[in-house]
Amino acid sequence: MKSCVLVSGGAGFIGSHVTVELIEAGYDVIVADNMSNCDSTCFEGVKKITGKDDIPFIKMDFRDPVATELLFATNKIDAVIHFAGFKAVGESVGEPLKYYKNNLDSFMNVIESARARGCGNILFSSSATVYGEPDKLPVTEETPRQPATSPYGNTKKMCEDILRDCVKAYPEIKGIALRYFNPIGAHPSALIGELPNGIPNNLVPFITQTAIGKRECLSVFGDDYPTPDGTCQRDFIDIVDLAKAHVFAVRRMLDGEMRKDYEVFNIGTGKPLSVMELIKGFEKANNLSLNYKIAPRRYGDITAIWADPTLANNELGWKAERKLEDTLASAWAWEKHLAGK
Ligand code: UD1
Repeated sequence: MKSCVLVSGGAGFIGSHVTVELIEAGYDVIVADNMSNCDSTCFEGVKKITGKDDIPFIKMDFRDPVATELLFATNKIDAVIHFAGFKAVGESVGEPLKYYKNNLDSFMNVIESARARGCGNILFSSSATVYGEPDKLPVTEETPRQPATSPYGNTKKMCEDILRDCVKAYPEIKGIALRYFNPIGAHPSALIGELPNGIPNNLVPFITQTAIGKRECLSVFGDDYPTPDGTCQRDFIDIVDLAKAHVFAVRRMLDGEMRKDYEVFNIGTGKPLSVMELIKGFEKANNLSLNYKIAPRRYGDITAIWADPTLANNELGWKAERKLEDTLASAWAWEKHLAGK
């Protein structure tokens, strides 16, 4: 019998790509989402890509413990991947309670009901934000986590701790936290991708919206950082590559191959890329010229971070593979798809 994976927040950017990869790997998937930060575009795209019109979808809020309990009680769920959560860094600074209540309560409800209903495999979507501004690069999973600079970042750190402590206390559950670096791009079909709400905070959606004419000019936040070209460096990881890492992680859990009951993996390419290199790469991949200007540094940005993905490479058997130009071409194809071009 096929194993069944619940994807909470499965209608969003990362969740929809993960749903596609799980289905293509042969898993049954249940998608649950409260649709608070997305519309049905990506879920419809998932159905088209996979050719499956009957993917179970449950509109629900994981803050509701009764609804969460009902979901686990009425479905045989073998593993859960938890994405459901708020993710706007800036907003979290102004509305910390909204973030703590939503992101922590939802995850605790998921763990509680999963455990009560015999689902012992829990995967949490964490972030490289837990490393803060690291002293040494690249960062390994052993690199100490730093105090979070935003309530959003803090919820990632706290959810990791909640999962770690629950795994320690309750022998019937196992946990994996995947720490994503900077996910970018879209599915090669251009049927699913990132759908930012309002003005994008993240670099690539801002680039594609500028290229299509929705924004006038991209601001490069700072060119006076101590990096080779003065702009910040990040580990930009293709969204499909990142989604595939979840399939490896779920399989590892379900096949009983975990070395410890709680494991953490960096999901990145291992290669730093500067903001300016990314802009130039986008222009080249899509044969266009982008309107951009140098602007002051953005408050809260760190100079540079990139992953040491050795552990994920060796233990999960996963590796980032897609070429940067293909990733950047897919981001542009998705923006054009949204514009109906
Ligand atoms: C941000 C969040 C991080 C979150 C991640 C999710 C902050 C401080 N960090 O990471 O917690 O997990 O998104 O994807 O918000 N840039 C520009 N112009 C722009 C937008 C961005 O120059 O219009 C630059 C930024 O200064 C940064 C780089 O591009 O150096 C990447 O920015 P972004 O895409 O927002 O990601 P992070 O800040 O790395």
